[in-house]
Amino acid sequence: MLETTPIAALIDDQAGPACVLDRDARVDGNVSAFELDVIAALVKSHRPGVLFEIGTFDGRTTLNMAANAPEGATVYTLDLPAESVDATAFALELNEHIFVRKPRSGARFADAPTPYTIVQLLGDSATFDFSPFFGRVDFMFIDGSHAYEYVRSDTLAALEMVRPGGIIIWHDYVRAGFTPFPGVPRALKEFHLTDSRFRHLTQIEHTSIMYLKLPRGNASPDFRSALLGDSTRADHLRGQLSVHPLQEPAEAVAVLPIRVVATNTGAATWLASDAPAGPVRVGARILSPEGVMLDNDYWRSELPFRRAIFPGESVAFETTIPRPGTAACILDFDLVAEGVRWFSVEPAAQIPLPGCAPSRAAMETEARQDS
Ligand SMILES: C[S@@+](CC[C@H](N)C(=O)[O-])C[C@H]1O[C@@H](n2cnc3c(N)ncnc32)[C@H](O)[C@@H]1O
Repeated sequence: MLETTPIAALIDDQAGPACVLDRDARVDGNVSAFELDVIAALVKSHRPGVLFEIGTFDGRTTLNMAANAPEGATVYTLDLPAESVDATAFALELNEHIFVRKPRSGARFADAPTPYTIVQLLGDSATFDFSPFFGRVDFMFIDGSHAYEYVRSDTLAALEMVRPGGIIIWHDYVRAGFTPFPGVPRALKEFHLTDSRFRHLTQIEHTSIMYLKLPRGNASPDFRSALLGDSTRADHLRGQLSVHPLQEPAEAVAVLPIRVVATNTGAATWLASDAPAGPVRVGARILSPEGVMLDNDYWRSELPFRRAIFPGESVAFETTIPRPGTAACILDFDLVAEGVRWFSVEPAAQIPLPGCAPSRAAMETEARQDS
């Protein structure tokens, strides 16, 4: 169960009072007046130098983050351009189109000069290139699309961007009962259950704001079991796999580049490939052209799943597999939860390899061994 924490426990009482602009000028789409007080107090107390907001809207929160950050700070704020509302990577919630379709993004700070450094960015957060911000952000506010897939992908981006010891907050978390944005609690509860970096995720009392201070030390995740079950157990593991060669397999190549798409069609979460127990990887066996097993454990992909893959999710990646010998054979791909079981995919994912002439070097080696 996620805890609630009073704002007083999250700020330094020596920080001095925050200044709150446009407090009583809330419009539909903004945070509440008290939530604005809370965000202003967090920024004032933590003194972030680089702040990032996903979901500018009219810029009321952007302005207040900038007004409470220390001198020299920069606030970056990303918004979806109104004309992109029907062309997003994931579907938006229908009730949030209205917040995208506005004449001006960030009107509260963009229409009049301010003494702050605010940088407006435009794009879809699911496809925006956040890499220049990786490891640089001290304070991140996630309030873009509230659809489940967006909350997940914005959160994963935040984990790359926010430095150890930095803070991430999310808006519109409702713990129980009706909410127009069920994707927010669904995504955050899943992170809390499955990823130890979210162990101290907490709801700020009397608000719909979730708060997480990232650990200062090694921030790499240690994965925990989800309540739904995960790949540390043999039950409910099912998947679909498609594997395509990216190069003509007839050629006598040492390694074959392949593209893999794996979909979790079962009810259990696949733990990431570097999880200490039950990590899921893609494996390959070798069959003869007649289907007889020649090698039942030929190959494993390296770390294709860098995070847990939830039921219904797909992941695509490219990798290479060494070509087994020169005789004709079939590469037969399956999923494997390490130390738990292989779980076969239907239909089978196979690449037939025709026989090919051995290379000159191989023939020379063979001749040396024979003599
Ligand atoms: C509820 S409003 C944000 C309110 C604002 N943070 C505030 O405190 O006043 C949601 C904002 O997210 C933006 N948005 C929705 N989907 C987005 C996406 N995929 N990428 C970036 N911004 C998005 C909308 O254009 C809208 O401005």
